[in-house]
Amino acid sequence: MSSIVESLESSVAYIRAICPPSKLKPRIAVVLGSGLGSFVNQVDVEAAIPYTEIPGFIPPSVDGHKGRLILGHVKGVPIVVLQGRIHFYEGHSMATVAHPVRTAALLGCEVMVLTNSAGGLDPAMRPGDFMIIDDHINLMGDNPLKGPNIKEFGPRFPDMTEAYDRKLSTKMNEVLLAMKVKFYRGVYCGVSGPTYETPSEVRYLQMLGGKAVGMSTVPETIAANHLGLRVCALSCITNLAAGLSQNKLSHEEVTETARAVEAKFGQFLVDFISRVETT
Ligand code: HPA
Repeated sequence: MSSIVESLESSVAYIRAICPPSKLKPRIAVVLGSGLGSFVNQVDVEAAIPYTEIPGFIPPSVDGHKGRLILGHVKGVPIVVLQGRIHFYEGHSMATVAHPVRTAALLGCEVMVLTNSAGGLDPAMRPGDFMIIDDHINLMGDNPLKGPNIKEFGPRFPDMTEAYDRKLSTKMNEVLLAMKVKFYRGVYCGVSGPTYETPSEVRYLQMLGGKAVGMSTVPETIAANHLGLRVCALSCITNLAAGLSQNKLSHEEVTETARAVEAKFGQFLVDFISRVETT
């Protein structure tokens, strides 16, 4: 058996020992991006497990990322929340980055809701706007499925024609319209970071057709698609990408903006989750 599968099995066994499926079998997984963690206050928590305790998990090293796996209900819907993610730029392999998402899939989730903070590539965007991710461009130079295929998980060459499920994105669109929130839809460019982009790189991403740029989400989307999950994703546009405003970029600005919209983001997730159909 591959070490990836062994490590996932040890994570799943540990989590199930704390919260068995008879108590809660999550159907939807939510990954919370930088500064967007307060959604957990809306969850009826069954178990909150620090990543440091779960075999196979690595704690996030970035400010604004807490590192807890939470099992609970939102409006009666059983969910697992990954509060804090591992980023590729922290130096881990893509498989390590995808580990929490794969764990959620093995716990029984069929839908993956990914959130992140991103830089806006459309000059009309303002910090605090939202963007539904309709598709992505993987510019990270790596892929979590590289190496021997784990065929119990999915095919060697997964189709990515609808990496972000259209029906789920339409539902996100409906919820955001009902909330009267300013939002965009578009292509997310996934870069490795940890540097922010140069203004020339930003122009390049605009030419590629990108509408937002960020350092996460792509590995998780790929791993979740491989496992046959339905994926959707929402970006919080925390800043205009480099060169599109007078400001220099900083992580503080990113987390500050995310914090300012955290409550709205949490409300969106509650409304959205309560409307997603699962089997
Ligand atoms: N670039 C890349 N990642 C980001 C940005 C950005 O401008 N803002 C938040 N995450």
